[in-house]
Amino acid sequence: MTVKDLELTGRHTSVAVPQLMVQGVLTWLRSRLVSGAVCVCVGACLLLHYCSVCQNKSWQKLKTMVHFSPFVVSFKKRYPWVQLAGHAGNFQAGEFGRLLKRYCECEQQCLQKLMKDTLRPYVPGYYGVVQRDEQDYNLMDDLLADFDSPSIMDCKMGSRTYLEEELTKARERPRLRKDMYDKMVAVDPGAPTEEERAQQGVLKPRYMQWRETLSSTATLGFRIEGIKKADGTCNTNFKKTKQREQVMQALKDFVDGNTQILKLYLERLEELRSVLDQSVFFRTHEVVGSSLLFVHDSSGKARVWMIDFGKTVPLPPDQTLDHRTPWVEGNREDGYLWGLDNLIDILSSMLPQTP
Ligand SMILES: Nc1ncnc2c1ncn2[C@@H]1O[C@H](COP(=O)(O)OP(=O)(O)O)[C@@H](O)[C@H]1O
Ligand SMILES: [Mg+2]
Repeated sequence: MTVKDLELTGRHTSVAVPQLMVQGVLTWLRSRLVSGAVCVCVGACLLLHYCSVCQNKSWQKLKTMVHFSPFVVSFKKRYPWVQLAGHAGNFQAGEFGRLLKRYCECEQQCLQKLMKDTLRPYVPGYYGVVQRDEQDYNLMDDLLADFDSPSIMDCKMGSRTYLEEELTKARERPRLRKDMYDKMVAVDPGAPTEEERAQQGVLKPRYMQWRETLSSTATLGFRIEGIKKADGTCNTNFKKTKQREQVMQALKDFVDGNTQILKLYLERLEELRSVLDQSVFFRTHEVVGSSLLFVHDSSGKARVWMIDFGKTVPLPPDQTLDHRTPWVEGNREDGYLWGLDNLIDILSSMLPQTP
């Protein structure tokens, strides 16, 4: 990333919660004293770099923001924070290796419960709701903070990425959507039925279901949303990455053929799978649109966390999911573990087989 790439905003607004500030400063000082690398400068600077790519075109920057804080703290290191997927503008820099994500009640409820669940080590630490510029945010750990020039991949898990209730809502007032028809034709001119072609429109539920069949979501139970590599290349154009071989190629490229990193990812995913099997939270929630965030750097460190619980909803008290049973409308199964099984299987097959 060059200076030229930065688009500075003139906003100098940081309303920190005093309690969090004190707690954060203490944590920070402690970590500084232990490491011995004490460095204090006036003004903290965090770069938020959103990158994206146009369909079939070269990389395109969406938005970059530099945020200045009046508080007397510098980050351990300056690093560009990368948002790989999701809605641009949802995130703000927090202090001390933390992030603010635009408040969503559903996500807040999940993160709160997850802090008391066996899954805790596999999700970002959560510190409650904070306000900035009259907007509420969920405050959580920045998972990139302990890495140097990390490579990052966002994998959206599950065999569908919309909630059953979204489908129901979309059916309530059926309306032909020309915009969705156009999007459909732009991706695959052969996709609309004759009737849809005649009407020049599609119904939203049909569009939602069709969209899932483009990527590996429907066939493998996960899809790659985006990859940003340490060398700066960033690809979010995996909408049509569907076949197992295509996914393997993307994964191989993500780790630059480094089997040691692959092995670490595989171990972490296997660990996660056995913890998911034990998790009360997981058993009692429909987990939709949630991602696994893969992060590694040249030091050889590689970790995976679960992120994004904006569409993870509790089931009725008498219901549980096994997350592997195929979805039929009404059973609320999300295919999360089916996807994880497939991902683990793919990664295993990429490693040299040990006898
Ligand atoms: N705790 C985190 N630490 C580091 N990066 C994160 C964290 N949460 C999200 N991100 C980054 O932001 C992107 C979008 O996050 P997500 O929670 O999926 O947002 P949305 O709800 O907008 O989809 C992720 O792909 C990842 O790159
Ligand atoms: Mg997301």
